Amino acid sequence: MTRVHVTDLVKDYTIREGLRRSRLRAVDHVSLDLTPGRTVALVGESGSGKSTIAKILTRMESPTSGTVDVRLDDGTPVQGSLYRRQVQMVFQDPYASLNPFHTIEHHVARPLRIHQRTTGAAQTHQRVLEMLERVNLSPAEQIAARRPHELSGGQRQRVAIARALAPGAQVLIADEPVSMLDVSIRLGVLNLLGRLQREDRLAVLYITHDLATARHFSDEIVVLFRGRVVERGPADAVILDPQHDYTKLLAMAAPDPERGPARVAAGAVIDRAAIDNSVCYDHFAGEWQQVGSPARSAATARSAATARRTA
Ligand SMILES: Nc1ncnc2c1ncn2[C@@H]1O[C@H](COP(=O)(O)OP(=O)(O)OP(=O)(O)O)[C@@H](O)[C@H]1O
Ligand SMILES: [Mg+2]
Repeated sequence: MTRVHVTDLVKDYTIREGLRRSRLRAVDHVSLDLTPGRTVALVGESGSGKSTIAKILTRMESPTSGTVDVRLDDGTPVQGSLYRRQVQMVFQDPYASLNPFHTIEHHVARPLRIHQRTTGAAQTHQRVLEMLERVNLSPAEQIAARRPHELSGGQRQRVAIARALAPGAQVLIADEPVSMLDVSIRLGVLNLLGRLQREDRLAVLYITHDLATARHFSDEIVVLFRGRVVERGPADAVILDPQHDYTKLLAMAAPDPERGPARVAAGAVIDRAAIDNSVCYDHFAGEWQQVGSPARSAATARSAATARRTA
């Protein structure tokens, strides 16, 4: 099994406007852990830095500072081709992520061949069909022969998931995997991700705007606001008992019938412009923490909290 420790991740972009250059800090000292069999939801509004974190985790971007430490159970660092095999991404847009000129078979067979998961054409073909069956695309033979434009958005996203799992993924980064799909089929794709996660004990980072699915499909929620983590904790605690003004604002924007309106509203009006992202409420540690300065990783905070409880 493979786990990921992200510590104090910072990503700065340089913005050029004519002759002027300015620096944009997209990700500001973010720490989080991904562990096998658990889903962490990364929640935040547009521009809060979610995809930047996903890109750093999948090595499409390099961090300005901070570390991404990926290790096997025995402590062996996961690097190079093993990293590319084990850490996989599902993108938001199922229409852009598949090549229109290639068949579905090609898309799923390619990672199998590149990462030498199969030997010979017959075995590769057989494995492609198995992968398609696993993501509920059947009859697999027929689907394998089609091109992306012959599939629906939901079916394409299932192909993208099969392709991500094909090389033997251990860590799955799903960046808003259902936000471009029709509302009626979103749940099906999320349930599929949930089932595959349980079957393969994947470590999953589920990036979303949507608090309701974050609660339903994840164990832990990390709330991002302007590049910083402002709240983290078990999914139920963050949703049912939000502490940071920004999380409360998100919760108000996404009514949850179970929670009822009184909890967060209580007549309070939160001034968005005045929201402070220099503090984070950590439900694991049961305390507010300073952000921006090197923060403790979630695991460190968690073990500190456990130590306090048992003391
Ligand atoms: N290559 C880049 N160059 C410059 N700025 C960038 C680049 N990529 C992202 N940014 C900026 O970094 C910030 C964070 O972007 P990011 O895509 O991570 O946000 P996000 O949370 O994924 O948003 P969304 O919900 O809209 O997908 C934004 O202000 C964005 O404009
Ligand atoms: Mg994004």
